[in-house]
Amino acid sequence: MLVASGLVKHYGGVTALDGVGITLDAGEVHALVGENGAGKSTLVKIVSGVVRPEGGTIALDRAPVRFAGARHAAAQGVAIVSQELMTYDDLTVLENLFPYGAPRRRGLVSTREMRRLARPVLSELGIDPPPHARAGDLPLTDRQMLEICRALLQEPRVLILDEPTSALPRDAAERLAGVVRRLAGRGLAVLYISHFLEEVMRIADRVTVLRDGRVVRPGAEAADVSLDSLVAAMLGEPGALAAAPRAMPAAPRSPGGVAVSLTGVTVPGRLRDVSLTAAGGEIVGLAGLQGAGHLAVLDAVCGRVRPASGSVRLPDGRAPRSARHAVTSGVAFVSGDRKGRGLMLDKPLWENVTAVSWLGQGRGGFLPRRARLVDRARGHLERLRVRGDVRAGAGGLSGGNQQKVVLAKWLDAAPSVLALDDPTRGVDVGARAELHAIVRGLAAEGKAVLIASSDLAELVELCHRVVVFQRGRIVGSLAGARLTEPELSVAMNAGFAGPAR
Ligand SMILES: Nc1ncnc2c1ncn2[C@@H]1O[C@H](COP(=O)(O)OP(=O)(O)OP(=O)(O)O)[C@@H](O)[C@H]1O
Ligand SMILES: [Mg+2]
Repeated sequence: MLVASGLVKHYGGVTALDGVGITLDAGEVHALVGENGAGKSTLVKIVSGVVRPEGGTIALDRAPVRFAGARHAAAQGVAIVSQELMTYDDLTVLENLFPYGAPRRRGLVSTREMRRLARPVLSELGIDPPPHARAGDLPLTDRQMLEICRALLQEPRVLILDEPTSALPRDAAERLAGVVRRLAGRGLAVLYISHFLEEVMRIADRVTVLRDGRVVRPGAEAADVSLDSLVAAMLGEPGALAAAPRAMPAAPRSPGGVAVSLTGVTVPGRLRDVSLTAAGGEIVGLAGLQGAGHLAVLDAVCGRVRPASGSVRLPDGRAPRSARHAVTSGVAFVSGDRKGRGLMLDKPLWENVTAVSWLGQGRGGFLPRRARLVDRARGHLERLRVRGDVRAGAGGLSGGNQQKVVLAKWLDAAPSVLALDDPTRGVDVGARAELHAIVRGLAAEGKAVLIASSDLAELVELCHRVVVFQRGRIVGSLAGARLTEPELSVAMNAGFAGPAR
């Protein structure tokens, strides 16, 4: 269906692609994996006409093509859902779905026709947003699904999904996997990028691995590929992850005093009478299905919502008055919602990394020498293996590397409480392990960690205990030998059998 070969692309001095080729067959799901910055997005942007290569060729159905732009590629049957969220926030749901011109009747834009076309696709994706709602007001999951819907409405022959699940909760990700398999069943060629390697192995027929702008493993049958060999090919170092402990975390060495506490907290519509503490040195997981309330706990701790009743206490003994007050009281919030993560894209990496600690020092404080800040930022970035010069702008980084910069920013701030929401979404396996090691290290130094994650393996690997939420209430918690993925999944979905606490 599509053959690309010899693609070359540079960004300034950076070689993003160095002679890359890929072959997509009709009816197959072809996965593309690689470390952050390996060149995956660059490759798919070229194949979908968003970016022009400096060299190489693309053929569609054996006929050579040269895309003049994304719209041209779309007209030829190549649709892309890109890594960055591309909804037009001020347009309605319907307007978002037909970016290349709405269907018309007698020369007039036909809303009825738009709805007729969109309805079956939206329902296949399992969402039902009000057609005239402003897209920017929809939850992130719906916005992500909206983009997928938009691509499908182009009735493509080739569908490219660049990390479509990095903004989706588990249930929506599973729904999407089903849709992708069905589309392949109908004869589409699907190119699928994801850092969730288990997901990749479940969904893909073939896998291509990119490293440093080159194909290191072309189109292997997924059935013949082991997870270990995939990781080794991605990282280029066999056994690179062996050092990362997958074992259960040790009990907190010397639990400090209570660092954060919630007492009888009620937030209308989100939390009902929730009491919870995290001691210094403890890593406490927060789990639940969408809307269960676990994320509201993070919002309350970070000063983004005020409880209607009950109280929240930060390490300084006071309640968070605002998001800013929470930050200056030592709470760091890291979100994997990279689609709105608040980096200053036009500013160099070092300024992004050191931004929070500046805030903490207050306006009257001394100004650390710039060279020292740059050095400090460089140290954090090297530790997280960020590909990019510390003085370069954050906007030029690959998606996963941007997420690492967000993490580095909070590490630099030396917080006493870490509030993490899906912190490793979109981050490659190597950096994920590194991040986990860092979180364990911070806990060992006495920081309290609260973490929510849609990646249950992450909770099981990292947490001392995981508190499970349903409909705004705590329904129980898991620790020790009972803290396993299956137990967690059952508890989130069905609650706890009997009085197990
Ligand atoms: N617009 C740009 N300006 C400058 N450099 C860029 C730009 N886009 C990509 N690059 C660089 O090209 C390289 C490949 O980036 P790309 O986005 O393709 O990586 P990726 O494999 O998609 O990574 P990720 O998993 O983090 O999304 C990186 O070094 C990146 O910094
Ligand atoms: Mg990318």
